[in-house]
Order: sequence, then structure tokens, then C-alpha cells
Amino acid sequence: MSDALAGVAVVGSANLDLVVEVARPPRVGETLLGRAGGRFPGGKGLNQAVAAARTGASTRFVGVVGQDEAGSVLEAALAKAGVDAALRRSAAAPTGVAHVLAFDDGDNSILVAAGANTELTPEDAVAGTAGAAVVLAQLEVPFGAVAAALRAARRSGALTILNAAPAQMRAVDLLPDVDVLVVNETECAELGGIDRLLGAGAGTVVLTEGAAGVTLHRAGRAGQHVAAFRIDAVDTTGAGDAFCGALAASLAQGWDIAPALVRACAAGAIVARHRGATTPALSVAAVDALVAGR
Ligand code: RIB
Repeated sequence: MSDALAGVAVVGSANLDLVVEVARPPRVGETLLGRAGGRFPGGKGLNQAVAAARTGASTRFVGVVGQDEAGSVLEAALAKAGVDAALRRSAAAPTGVAHVLAFDDGDNSILVAAGANTELTPEDAVAGTAGAAVVLAQLEVPFGAVAAALRAARRSGALTILNAAPAQMRAVDLLPDVDVLVVNETECAELGGIDRLLGAGAGTVVLTEGAAGVTLHRAGRAGQHVAAFRIDAVDTTGAGDAFCGALAASLAQGWDIAPALVRACAAGAIVARHRGATTPALSVAAVDALVAGR
């Protein structure tokens, strides 16, 4: 990482999450009654930016929302978390919306109407991430914008992190510009497995394994497992995003990858203990306390 660079920039999606609590997903043709679970700021990009800021990094978020009330809600949520938002307000498209089915065991299914997120351009992404020490992206916004941000970041000497969610095969083409790839077990399998990902250029692959924790994979070295924190999950929406945001923040603050992964696991656990994809309960002090009590 170059000394002239500072902080974290997150390029990605911002959605309004509409949560319905329900025992199971509806079948095709079925109308199922659930309970209103609330309306929360969301989107993988926004969630990760909020987590990076709340875990101590100076953070910028680059994304697009609509000129509607949902866009204003998301803008306010970013400001409240201390994120510097390079938000474009689309004149044509509505803010992205995610329909979150929250099941009784804390798990979820999510359906996203991307809306204004589809308008993020490579120019937005490159301009908004310039100067950051760590650039973090996911795949809920146009592929070209993510590719351009990672390439420019790599050229500037920044550390690049890609959370390949939702998975798409083309993600492998991005790997020569990726220092740290974060995938869950499903995404990893869809992209061809750990060996293929390391062989395609990702220097480091972090495999997230839910309640089992995470495993750090690096070419030519044995995998290193980090156990998850044992918690009673209330809502796992955004827990993976908190992990990614806190990982970016920790790396930007100079932590080595192994302790950074422990802090990231703690951040994911704190978010899973609360409703919604972000929570003000996530802080440097909360992460420190959880890590210290291990
Ligand atoms: O990762 C969780 C997020 O995925 C939700 O906040 C939802 O908006 C979707 O982007």
C-alpha cells in the first residue's frame, strides 16, 4: 500500500431493505402471510461502507440512488455512520429495493430490484475511489464499474478487495486486479473452487463458512482457519457485509490479515445480533470487547 493513500473506499449498491418475517419462503403461486419486519438501509455496498466507518476507517461510499424518499433515507444513514458519500441521485431510476424474507432461525432470502444501482458508471467508480488506501467492491452494481475501480486502484498502489457477491462467472476475469477475494462456500463453488481462484490471480482468498468461521487461503501455504464468535443470531442480513467492511477497515489501519480476519468475524457477529443489515451497536469498542473476551 502506498503511504500517499488513506482510508477505505467502497464502490457498490445501496438499497432500501423491506423485511418480512416469515417461517418459510412462499411456493410458486402461493400467497403467504408474514409479519412486517421493518424498513432498513441496505445494499451490500452501503452495508460494507457503514461497517468500515463504524470500525474506525475514514470511509467513502460511491453509488447511485434515486431522487426519491428512499434515496434520502440512505443518504441520511450514510451521513449518520460518518461515511463520506459520493452519491449520485439518478433523475430516471428509483432507489434500489431489496425484499428480505427473514426466517425464524435468523437466516434469510433476498430479492433485489436494482433500480438506480444499474446506473453506476466506470467514471463514477474511478473518481470516487481515487486516493483510498483500500478499495472494496461487490458485484451488485455494473461489472464495468467494478472492473474500472479495481484496475485504477491497483495502478495507484491501493489494496483491492472484491467480495464476489452475488457470484458471476466473469468475476474470475477481475482477479488479476484483486489482492483479497472474499467468497462464501456457494460463491466459491460457482467460481470453480479455491485452487482455480488462486490460480486465476487472487493473491489471497478468504472463504467465509457461516457459523464455522472463515478460512484464509494463500497460494503455496496451508489454509488458516479463524473460528466464528458464538452468538445467538437475531438477523444475519448484512453480517457478511459487516465482515467485509471491517476487514477493509482493519487492513487500512495496518492490521495483518490474520488479526484483521478475527476483527472482521467480530463485526459480523455484532451485526447478526441485531435487526437490519447495519447497526449503531457496531463500533471499534464493541469489536475490541468481543475479541478480548474470546
Ligand atoms: O448482503 C445483504 C444485502 O443484500 C441487503 O442489505 C440487501 O439490500 C442486498 O443488497
